[in-house]
Amino acid sequence: MASPSPTNVREFQAIAKGRMTQAAYDYYAGAANDELTLAENERAYTRWAIVHRVLAGVDAVDTTTTLLGTPLPCPVILAPTAFHRLGHPDGEPATARAAAAFGTILCVSTIASTSLEDVAAAAPDATRWFQLYVYRDREVTRDLIARAEAAGYRALVLTVDTPRLGRRERDLRNRFVLPDDVQIRNLERYAQRDATRWQDSSTFNEYVHRLLDASLTWESVDWLSSVTKLPLFIKGVASPVDAALALQHGADGIVVSNHGGRQLDGSIATVDALPGIVDEVEGRVPVLVDGGVRRGTDVFKALALGATAVQIGRPYLWGLAAEGEAGVRRVLELLRDEFELAMALAGVRSVPEITRGFLRRVGHSEPPGTAPAAP
Ligand code: FNR
Repeated sequence: MASPSPTNVREFQAIAKGRMTQAAYDYYAGAANDELTLAENERAYTRWAIVHRVLAGVDAVDTTTTLLGTPLPCPVILAPTAFHRLGHPDGEPATARAAAAFGTILCVSTIASTSLEDVAAAAPDATRWFQLYVYRDREVTRDLIARAEAAGYRALVLTVDTPRLGRRERDLRNRFVLPDDVQIRNLERYAQRDATRWQDSSTFNEYVHRLLDASLTWESVDWLSSVTKLPLFIKGVASPVDAALALQHGADGIVVSNHGGRQLDGSIATVDALPGIVDEVEGRVPVLVDGGVRRGTDVFKALALGATAVQIGRPYLWGLAAEGEAGVRRVLELLRDEFELAMALAGVRSVPEITRGFLRRVGHSEPPGTAPAAP
């Protein structure tokens, strides 16, 4: 008899763990140093409690929303993550097909294990964004952008929290290297340009340090905007000061992120960083948040704190590793259904009704300036 399908994201993680090598699992699951921020991203959601309303006539609840003109079945999109073929041989094309079937956005990583063109061909109907790492060789960067535009990607997401790679001790212990059948396919065509050969680096850490441009500044954002017409998101923002700078430099959206705890350990949990950034942005551009979203109630809380939508990383990787395309779709469905139930039980019929007034900070003294209004 087939085993029952997992009932939540954590169960998917357990199944994924059983299907992956230890090194691949650790690459997905792990984070920097003591993994404090990894844990905090999740824990921070428990410090907000939902103050539910009753008798709100919730026979029909509408979870849909719109992000940068794209209608979404619920405010959950897929964060850029590297190397989907580490989790499942079907890799990024499976993820993209699941995104298309569910109707959400997939952000494809620069260091995907399938080329951005092949992801596009696998799921032409999916709304795809391209996550950009800026290589020291700017011609490579410029060409990646041109290719993303030509292949129908609809936004660029510049990741800015990775001037160096965080110290991921699980990977160091495992001496993590990519298996032969998992490569950074987007970069293969530049192999003659010194630029990009993963194989020339003994570790992923060395690859990043050798090739990615740690000298990026806000002027680099201006340069990027000058070489593309695509909307540009800045991913990895934790400070309202940087949110203000992102707006000054023409960003079309902000992703509040600490890279799932994989970069600076001890950095602020993203849901704690979110309200200050939302206040700074004042609705001028979409504000996304990622890190630690594991339940539909987390989605509800992030939206109540002002996020336009959330991104998930590991949850869909667990779905992919456990059950391929169907697993990614199932994780999305679970989160949508949990979110829909949370809305109904909180007394909310539509996404715009989810406001800060539905939350109370618990378990910690209230930081100044964050006291919510009564619902
Ligand atoms: C990532 N993340 C990431 N971010 C990015 O901009 N480019 C990338 O290539 C990757 N790769 C990557 C690989 C793996 C295995 C993970 C877990 C994460 C970070 C990702 O976009 C996102 O910020 C986090 O995954 C969000 O946290 P959760 O949902 O995993 O808790």
